[in-house]
Amino acid sequence: LYHTPELTPKDEIPDCAIAVDVLRATSTIATVLAAGGEAVQVFSDLEKLIEISEQWPAEKRLRAGERGGAKVTGFELGNSPLDCTPELVHGRRLFISTTNGTRALQRIQNSPSVLAAALINRAAIVEYLLEKQPQTVWIVGSGWEGSFALEDTVCAGAIAHSIIEKTHVSPDQLAGNDELIGAIALYTQWQDNLLGLFHHASHGKRLLRLECHEDLKYCSQTDILDVLPIQQEIGVLKSKN
Ligand code: MLT
Repeated sequence: LYHTPELTPKDEIPDCAIAVDVLRATSTIATVLAAGGEAVQVFSDLEKLIEISEQWPAEKRLRAGERGGAKVTGFELGNSPLDCTPELVHGRRLFISTTNGTRALQRIQNSPSVLAAALINRAAIVEYLLEKQPQTVWIVGSGWEGSFALEDTVCAGAIAHSIIEKTHVSPDQLAGNDELIGAIALYTQWQDNLLGLFHHASHGKRLLRLECHEDLKYCSQTDILDVLPIQQEIGVLKSKN
Protein backbone atom coordinates (compact mmCIF):
# COMPACT_ATOMS: atom_id res chain seq x y z
CA LEU A 1 0.00 0.00 0.00
CA TYR A 2 1.25 3.43 -0.95
CA HIS A 3 -0.62 6.36 0.52
CA THR A 4 0.11 8.64 -2.43
CA PRO A 5 1.29 8.12 -6.03
CA GLU A 6 4.56 9.93 -5.17
CA LEU A 7 5.51 7.18 -2.69
CA THR A 8 5.52 4.37 -5.26
CA PRO A 9 8.99 3.00 -6.18
CA LYS A 10 10.22 4.56 -9.42
CA ASP A 11 11.67 1.62 -11.33
CA GLU A 12 9.26 -1.15 -10.39
CA ILE A 13 6.03 -2.35 -11.93
CA PRO A 14 3.68 -4.65 -9.99
CA ASP A 15 1.61 -7.40 -11.62
CA CYS A 16 -1.52 -5.59 -10.56
CA ALA A 17 -1.94 -1.97 -9.52
CA ILE A 18 -5.07 -0.54 -7.94
CA ALA A 19 -5.79 3.17 -7.79
CA VAL A 20 -8.03 4.35 -4.96
CA ASP A 21 -9.73 7.74 -4.78
CA VAL A 22 -12.84 7.14 -2.74
CA LEU A 23 -13.64 10.90 -2.64
CA ARG A 24 -14.40 10.85 -5.48
CA ALA A 25 -12.69 9.89 -8.74
CA THR A 26 -12.70 6.09 -8.45
CA SER A 27 -16.23 6.13 -6.98
CA THR A 28 -17.29 8.13 -10.05
CA ILE A 29 -15.47 5.78 -12.45
CA ALA A 30 -17.14 2.71 -10.91
CA THR A 31 -20.53 4.43 -11.02
CA VAL A 32 -20.21 5.43 -14.69
CA LEU A 33 -19.23 1.93 -15.76
CA ALA A 34 -21.95 0.31 -13.64
CA ALA A 35 -24.47 2.68 -15.25
CA GLY A 36 -23.54 1.48 -18.74
CA GLY A 37 -20.90 4.02 -19.74
CA GLU A 38 -18.86 2.75 -22.71
CA ALA A 39 -15.54 3.62 -21.02
CA VAL A 40 -13.83 6.18 -18.83
CA GLN A 41 -10.72 7.87 -20.22
CA VAL A 42 -8.57 9.73 -17.70
CA PHE A 43 -6.35 12.78 -18.20
CA SER A 44 -4.20 14.84 -15.87
CA ASP A 45 -4.20 17.70 -18.33
CA LEU A 46 -7.43 19.55 -19.18
CA GLU A 47 -6.20 20.78 -22.59
CA LYS A 48 -5.29 17.25 -23.64
CA LEU A 49 -8.71 16.03 -22.48
CA ILE A 50 -10.45 18.63 -24.67
CA GLU A 51 -8.22 17.83 -27.67
CA ILE A 52 -8.79 14.06 -27.53
CA SER A 53 -12.49 14.21 -26.65
CA GLU A 54 -13.15 16.46 -29.64
CA GLN A 55 -12.18 13.57 -31.89
CA TRP A 56 -15.11 11.64 -30.44
CA PRO A 57 -18.74 12.06 -31.65
CA ALA A 58 -20.45 14.68 -29.47
CA GLU A 59 -23.44 12.47 -28.65
CA LYS A 60 -21.10 9.67 -27.48
CA ARG A 61 -18.97 11.71 -25.06
CA LEU A 62 -19.23 13.47 -21.73
CA ARG A 63 -16.59 15.69 -20.20
CA ALA A 64 -15.98 15.77 -16.47
CA GLY A 65 -13.50 18.08 -14.82
CA GLU A 66 -12.73 18.80 -11.19
CA ARG A 67 -10.17 21.10 -9.58
CA GLY A 68 -10.07 21.70 -5.83
CA GLY A 69 -13.32 19.76 -5.46
CA ALA A 70 -15.23 22.13 -7.80
CA LYS A 71 -16.47 21.59 -11.37
CA VAL A 72 -14.34 22.96 -14.20
CA THR A 73 -16.25 25.65 -16.13
CA GLY A 74 -17.47 24.56 -19.54
CA PHE A 75 -17.54 20.84 -18.75
CA GLU A 76 -20.84 18.95 -18.57
CA LEU A 77 -19.92 17.31 -15.27
CA GLY A 78 -17.76 17.88 -12.21
CA ASN A 79 -16.76 14.80 -10.24
CA SER A 80 -19.98 13.87 -8.49
CA PRO A 81 -20.85 10.19 -8.92
CA LEU A 82 -24.49 11.10 -8.28
CA ASP A 83 -24.65 13.04 -11.56
CA CYS A 84 -23.69 9.90 -13.49
CA THR A 85 -27.14 8.45 -14.00
CA PRO A 86 -27.77 5.61 -16.49
CA GLU A 87 -29.93 8.03 -18.55
CA LEU A 88 -26.95 10.36 -18.96
CA VAL A 89 -23.97 8.03 -19.29
CA HIS A 90 -25.32 4.93 -21.02
CA GLY A 91 -23.28 4.13 -24.15
CA ARG A 92 -21.10 7.23 -23.75
CA ARG A 93 -17.43 7.65 -22.96
CA LEU A 94 -16.57 9.81 -19.95
CA PHE A 95 -13.44 11.94 -20.45
CA ILE A 96 -12.33 12.94 -16.97
CA SER A 97 -9.64 14.94 -15.24
CA THR A 98 -9.51 15.38 -11.46
CA THR A 99 -6.99 16.86 -9.02
CA ASN A 100 -5.52 13.61 -7.64
CA GLY A 101 -7.36 10.48 -8.78
CA THR A 102 -6.37 10.66 -12.41
CA ARG A 103 -2.73 11.25 -11.39
CA ALA A 104 -2.76 8.02 -9.38
CA LEU A 105 -4.12 6.12 -12.38
CA GLN A 106 -1.47 7.64 -14.63
CA ARG A 107 1.30 6.70 -12.22
CA ILE A 108 0.36 3.00 -12.44
CA GLN A 109 -0.78 2.86 -16.07
CA ASN A 110 2.11 0.65 -17.22
CA SER A 111 1.22 -2.28 -14.96
CA PRO A 112 -0.12 -5.36 -16.77
CA SER A 113 -3.32 -5.04 -14.79
CA VAL A 114 -4.71 -1.68 -13.62
CA LEU A 115 -7.90 -1.38 -11.58
CA ALA A 116 -9.90 1.47 -10.06
CA ALA A 117 -11.23 0.72 -6.57
CA ALA A 118 -13.59 2.46 -4.21
CA LEU A 119 -15.62 1.23 -1.25
CA ILE A 120 -18.73 0.90 -3.45
CA ASN A 121 -17.05 -1.75 -5.65
CA ARG A 122 -14.73 -3.30 -3.06
CA ALA A 123 -16.21 -6.83 -3.42
CA ALA A 124 -15.57 -6.92 -7.19
CA ILE A 125 -11.93 -5.93 -6.63
CA VAL A 126 -11.49 -8.61 -3.96
CA GLU A 127 -13.08 -11.23 -6.20
CA TYR A 128 -10.68 -10.34 -9.05
CA LEU A 129 -7.63 -10.57 -6.78
CA LEU A 130 -8.72 -13.92 -5.36
CA GLU A 131 -9.36 -15.30 -8.83
CA LYS A 132 -6.17 -14.03 -10.55
CA GLN A 133 -3.85 -14.19 -7.55
CA PRO A 134 -1.30 -11.68 -8.88
CA GLN A 135 2.12 -12.05 -7.23
CA THR A 136 2.65 -8.37 -6.55
CA VAL A 137 -0.19 -5.97 -5.91
CA TRP A 138 0.09 -2.26 -5.28
CA ILE A 139 -2.79 -0.34 -3.79
CA VAL A 140 -2.12 3.31 -4.49
CA GLY A 141 -4.07 5.95 -2.61
CA SER A 142 -4.58 9.19 -4.48
CA GLY A 143 -4.23 11.30 -1.36
CA TRP A 144 -4.51 15.05 -1.74
CA GLU A 145 -1.69 16.86 -3.53
CA GLY A 146 0.93 14.48 -2.16
CA SER A 147 -0.56 14.05 1.32
CA PHE A 148 -2.20 11.07 3.00
CA ALA A 149 -6.02 10.75 2.74
CA LEU A 150 -7.98 8.82 5.37
CA GLU A 151 -10.71 7.69 2.96
CA ASP A 152 -8.25 6.04 0.55
CA THR A 153 -6.40 4.28 3.34
CA VAL A 154 -9.62 2.95 4.86
CA CYS A 155 -10.60 1.56 1.45
CA ALA A 156 -7.24 -0.21 1.15
CA GLY A 157 -7.90 -1.61 4.61
CA ALA A 158 -11.38 -2.76 3.53
CA ILE A 159 -9.92 -4.64 0.55
CA ALA A 160 -7.20 -6.29 2.65
CA HIS A 161 -9.61 -7.10 5.48
CA SER A 162 -11.96 -8.89 3.11
CA ILE A 163 -9.12 -10.91 1.55
CA ILE A 164 -7.85 -11.94 4.97
CA GLU A 165 -11.34 -13.05 6.00
CA LYS A 166 -11.90 -15.04 2.82
CA THR A 167 -8.49 -16.72 2.68
CA HIS A 168 -7.82 -17.09 6.40
CA VAL A 169 -4.39 -15.49 5.92
CA SER A 170 -2.84 -15.11 9.33
CA PRO A 171 -2.30 -11.46 10.31
CA ASP A 172 1.30 -12.56 11.12
CA GLN A 173 1.91 -12.85 7.38
CA LEU A 174 1.46 -9.10 7.11
CA ALA A 175 4.31 -8.44 9.55
CA GLY A 176 6.55 -5.70 8.18
CA ASN A 177 3.83 -4.19 5.99
CA ASP A 178 3.22 -1.24 8.28
CA GLU A 179 0.98 0.67 5.86
CA LEU A 180 -1.39 -2.25 5.36
CA ILE A 181 -1.55 -3.15 9.06
CA GLY A 182 -2.44 0.48 9.80
CA ALA A 183 -5.06 0.52 7.02
CA ILE A 184 -6.75 -2.64 8.30
CA ALA A 185 -6.81 -1.25 11.84
CA LEU A 186 -8.41 1.95 10.53
CA TYR A 187 -11.05 -0.04 8.67
CA THR A 188 -11.88 -2.32 11.59
CA GLN A 189 -12.31 0.69 13.86
CA TRP A 190 -14.58 2.60 11.44
CA GLN A 191 -16.28 -0.07 9.32
CA ASP A 192 -19.68 0.61 10.89
CA ASN A 193 -19.39 4.38 10.54
CA LEU A 194 -17.43 5.15 7.39
CA LEU A 195 -19.47 8.30 6.84
CA GLY A 196 -18.41 9.45 10.30
CA LEU A 197 -14.77 8.87 9.33
CA PHE A 198 -15.27 10.91 6.14
CA HIS A 199 -16.50 13.80 8.27
CA HIS A 200 -13.07 13.79 9.97
CA ALA A 201 -11.12 13.55 6.71
CA SER A 202 -9.63 16.75 5.27
CA HIS A 203 -11.07 16.16 1.80
CA GLY A 204 -14.38 15.09 3.35
CA LYS A 205 -14.48 18.45 5.13
CA ARG A 206 -13.58 20.23 1.89
CA LEU A 207 -16.46 18.51 0.09
CA LEU A 208 -18.85 19.33 2.92
CA ARG A 209 -17.91 23.00 2.55
CA LEU A 210 -18.85 22.60 -1.14
CA GLU A 211 -22.20 21.12 -0.03
CA CYS A 212 -21.45 17.62 -1.33
CA HIS A 213 -23.07 15.85 1.65
CA GLU A 214 -24.86 13.36 -0.57
CA ASP A 215 -21.61 12.43 -2.35
CA LEU A 216 -19.99 11.61 0.99
CA LYS A 217 -22.95 9.43 1.94
CA TYR A 218 -22.95 7.62 -1.39
CA CYS A 219 -19.17 7.02 -1.43
CA SER A 220 -19.20 5.68 2.15
CA GLN A 221 -21.31 2.65 1.15
CA THR A 222 -19.54 -0.69 0.80
CA ASP A 223 -20.03 -3.34 -1.92
CA ILE A 224 -23.07 -1.80 -3.62
CA LEU A 225 -21.83 -2.05 -7.24
CA ASP A 226 -20.69 -5.25 -8.90
CA VAL A 227 -18.34 -3.56 -11.33
CA LEU A 228 -14.64 -4.00 -12.04
CA PRO A 229 -13.11 -0.97 -13.78
CA ILE A 230 -10.03 -2.35 -15.55
CA GLN A 231 -7.64 -0.61 -17.93
CA GLN A 232 -7.99 -1.82 -21.54
CA GLU A 233 -5.52 0.55 -23.15
CA ILE A 234 -3.41 3.25 -21.53
CA GLY A 235 -5.75 5.64 -19.71
CA VAL A 236 -8.97 3.87 -20.79
CA LEU A 237 -10.94 1.88 -18.23
CA LYS A 238 -13.82 -0.38 -19.09
CA SER A 239 -16.06 -2.63 -17.07
CA LYS A 240 -15.31 -6.32 -16.85
CA ASN A 241 -18.85 -7.16 -15.69
C1 MLT B 1 -9.46 14.03 -6.88
O1 MLT B 1 -9.13 13.43 -7.91
O2 MLT B 1 -8.69 14.77 -6.29
C2 MLT B 1 -10.81 13.89 -6.26
O3 MLT B 1 -11.55 12.94 -6.90
C3 MLT B 1 -11.40 15.20 -5.95
C4 MLT B 1 -12.89 15.27 -5.88
O4 MLT B 1 -13.47 14.98 -4.84
O5 MLT B 1 -13.53 15.61 -6.86
